[in-house]
Amino acid sequence: MELKDAVAVVTGANRGLGRHLAAQLVERGATVYAAARRPETVDLPGVVPLRLDVTDEESIREAARTASGATLLVNNAGISTGTPLIAGSTDAVRLEMDTNFFGTLAVTRAFTPVIEGNGGGAVLNVLSVLSWLHPAGLGSYAAAKAAGWALTDAIREELAPRGITVSGLYVGYMDTDMAAAVPADEKADPADVAAQALTGVESGLPEILADETTRYVKQSLAASPNAA
Ligand SMILES: NC(=O)c1ccc[n+]([C@@H]2O[C@H](COP(=O)([O-])OP(=O)(O)OC[C@H]3O[C@@H](n4cnc5c(N)ncnc54)[C@H](OP(=O)(O)O)[C@@H]3O)[C@@H](O)[C@H]2O)c1
Repeated sequence: MELKDAVAVVTGANRGLGRHLAAQLVERGATVYAAARRPETVDLPGVVPLRLDVTDEESIREAARTASGATLLVNNAGISTGTPLIAGSTDAVRLEMDTNFFGTLAVTRAFTPVIEGNGGGAVLNVLSVLSWLHPAGLGSYAAAKAAGWALTDAIREELAPRGITVSGLYVGYMDTDMAAAVPADEKADPADVAAQALTGVESGLPEILADETTRYVKQSLAASPNAA
């Protein structure tokens, strides 16, 4: 889709990758709603702050009413709690699934009729190399991102006849708060990842693989578990 003149809603746009995506959408000529659960923390010039907690149905409905001209939804908001599935707390597993999977689903359900009513457009889901690689210490996050992969593929087929293209962004560690504990030389620049993602949306790519690790893991999927 053409990003110039698009009307974009970016969840989790107050920091990290979401902030880069929102800033670069402005640079590419889009009108941008920078959605955040605390909109007062949005400090980007040229965007419209929008209150949106992806785990709160009422705030999602209100955001879809406010951003009624939307043609592009970027499901970027996410959390990583570092919870293993057996030894970790069930509450943490549920929170991660509620935010990363059900949050993405709920926001997409709310914005589908909006985007369709505006003549069609696109959805970009921010996923992870951990959609495909499932280390024990991040079991809960990986399960939620794997579910996000399935969601992305299933809704791509469901939304195509409604004029909405669906892309998934898959990436390893990025230099944001979420990966603060990871050594700098193992992290991608989120500005570069955002640029690749937006170019992928412009081209209608179903999958955007943003770094070497992710490309390697994807092509190794037929190997035995965790061989990658
Ligand atoms: N960093 C990495 O290494 C990495 C790698 C692969 C994929 N990802 C994915 O990239 C996306 C962006 O993450 P990031 O790296 O930019 O992390 P980040 O810096 O921790 O930012 C996370 C963003 O999500 C928002 N958020 C969390 N829960 C929310 C909720 N319930 N409702 C609305 N917003 C919520 C946060 O808002 P608050 O400020 O209110 O907390 C923040 O804006 C996530 O989907 C993440 O899983 C990250």
